[in-house]
Amino acid sequence: MLSKRLEAIASFVDKNDNLIDVGCDHGYLGIYLKENNLVNNLLLTDINKNALNNAINNMQKLNLNIATKLTNGLDNIDTTNFNTIVISGMGTNTIKQILIPSKLKTIDKLIIQSNNHLAELRGYLKSLGFGLVDEITLKEKNIWYVICLFRKNFCSNYSAYGIPKKDKIPYYKYLIKNYQNILNGIPKDNIEIRKKYLNIIERLNKLLEEC
Ligand SMILES: C[S@@+](CC[C@H](N)C(=O)[O-])C[C@H]1O[C@@H](n2cnc3c(N)ncnc32)[C@H](O)[C@@H]1O
Repeated sequence: MLSKRLEAIASFVDKNDNLIDVGCDHGYLGIYLKENNLVNNLLLTDINKNALNNAINNMQKLNLNIATKLTNGLDNIDTTNFNTIVISGMGTNTIKQILIPSKLKTIDKLIIQSNNHLAELRGYLKSLGFGLVDEITLKEKNIWYVICLFRKNFCSNYSAYGIPKKDKIPYYKYLIKNYQNILNGIPKDNIEIRKKYLNIIERLNKLLEEC
């Protein structure tokens, strides 16, 4: 059974997508998409030979034939045959290194789940011309995940904290609690740093009201 996180990623895939799953690891997402006929064309990649072999073994158990490539990011991949890229379970720095403009000419959709620095990721993709269309926020095994859907040339106004919607309520509350704990540990005379965290908390409280 697919994890809630991978299910959310799959929900952003359209049947006619030609999709590259960069860093597929076990291949569960691609296998689910192929088995359920939820995607047009699929390429699974990973930088790690053992990870890709796991994906290949998992496919073979189910008699599925999905293209694979052992490579770093999008190196040696002709992305012109694809319109969609999924990257999940990596950090923002790695994702930024993979998503270089020269590889994104025909890509109009990105489904990204970064493990950290989401504000930086949203900003980077905006600078490449990708607007944030939707987000799914969920908690699984006590970890919060935000799955972001970006489209090329999509105009949207959102803050560094993403799209305020119902599933963000517990997430924003969690962030506020975290920032409040940090604030509590900052000495009273450290006015500038305290102000920074107070501003963040105020901003998150406003977004909470918009959810
Ligand atoms: C934590 S796993 C996530 C697997 C899967 N995408 C998911 O969300 O469940 C991260 C995978 O990304 C791969 N990876 C890390 N850096 C990569 C890169 N530069 N290019 C391709 N794959 C990479 C790792 O080898 C690993 O298999």
